Amino acid sequence: MVSLAVAAVAGACSPRPATTTSSGVPLAGPLIPAATTIVTAWDVPRNPTTDAALAKSPEGRNVQWGFRLFTNTPSEAKQFAPGRMTCAHCHLNAGQRERALPLVAVASVFPEQNVRAGRLYTLNDRIVDCFLRSENATGAGGNHLPQTTSKEVEAIAAYVTWLGRGVKTENNPPWRGQNTIPASAVVPVDALDPRKGEAIYTERCVSCHGADGQGVALGNKKAGPLWGADSWNDGAGAARVYTLAGIIKHTMPFLDPGSLTDEEAQDVAAFINSKPRPSYPLKDRDYRNGRIPADAVYYRRR
Ligand code: HEC
Ligand code: HEC
Repeated sequence: MVSLAVAAVAGACSPRPATTTSSGVPLAGPLIPAATTIVTAWDVPRNPTTDAALAKSPEGRNVQWGFRLFTNTPSEAKQFAPGRMTCAHCHLNAGQRERALPLVAVASVFPEQNVRAGRLYTLNDRIVDCFLRSENATGAGGNHLPQTTSKEVEAIAAYVTWLGRGVKTENNPPWRGQNTIPASAVVPVDALDPRKGEAIYTERCVSCHGADGQGVALGNKKAGPLWGADSWNDGAGAARVYTLAGIIKHTMPFLDPGSLTDEEAQDVAAFINSKPRPSYPLKDRDYRNGRIPADAVYYRRR
């Protein structure tokens, strides 16, 4: 359904490839370069809501809604985002920033085997997973669980698919899977020091994220809660220490990304993931086909 709808939209109006950000910084291919700082914090190279042609068809308007869902999740999809996490809090610049879990041209890699679930995943399956875990949409409070056919999931899939229109890449885009700590720099989880991580947090992170981790307003922007009831749950990718370290290493601190050492990124991730967060109720269904990874600390703590 989605791919047909998007094909119709693309025929009418492919997004125009930009070469610089609105602030004049040269793009890295279709993406905001990883090394830029606050100058590009609000930039979106491809924004469907400013593409007048899209507003003319239901399919195009669905792409636009997908963008709004992605950048303002708790207000646009209340029942699937009971906390305060927005997709773009982790997938920066609406999924269009290098080394910040970019989603440009990622639609075409699905279906793909998912290790945690031990089965083949479509793009919609993957989006549902980020809702269930990163957005903590576990159906509490009488809410429904997100499904691959939920209209919110379809709209976001339409946006993510649209993002790849006209972008020439290998089947697996080279900017995918770059939010990692190199194997040679990985510190065993038990040797990481959350107290060191707390000291780094106090020095480098607290001004924007707050002592309580809940985020401080910066103009009209605010980071999502790093822990607590409104944050991602303990079944999320970001609840894994190395996954979170790989996000932090390349995106934070916002004004100086890449300035933490690999070890500092891991210590601060160990600190953040030593904190309480909502419980994902279906953890026992994960990793059925293999061993629980060492950095899946909330699974090991049970
Ligand atoms: C707390 C951080 C966080 C939030 C919030 C979040 N995600 Fe993710 N997302 C991740 C991580 C971590 C991955 C795994 C990246 C990897 O495997 O390299 C991921 C992966 C994905 C992927 C697959 C990307 C790929 O290359 O395979 C998609 C699609 C996605 N997220 C969509 C969403 C959507 C849609 C939302 C909002 C409903 C969202 N995410 C919210 C952290 C987050
Ligand atoms: C100058 C302000 C600033 C500093 C300093 C900063 N951050 Fe952030 N951080 C942000 C903003 C703003 C976002 C949300 C980005 C967005 O929505 O585009 C964010 C997002 C994040 C996220 C994604 C998940 C979420 O809950 O939003 C993580 C994880 C994170 N920061 C960790 C850190 C860590 C660890 C440090 C210190 C090493 C740090 N940040 C320092 C401003 C900052």
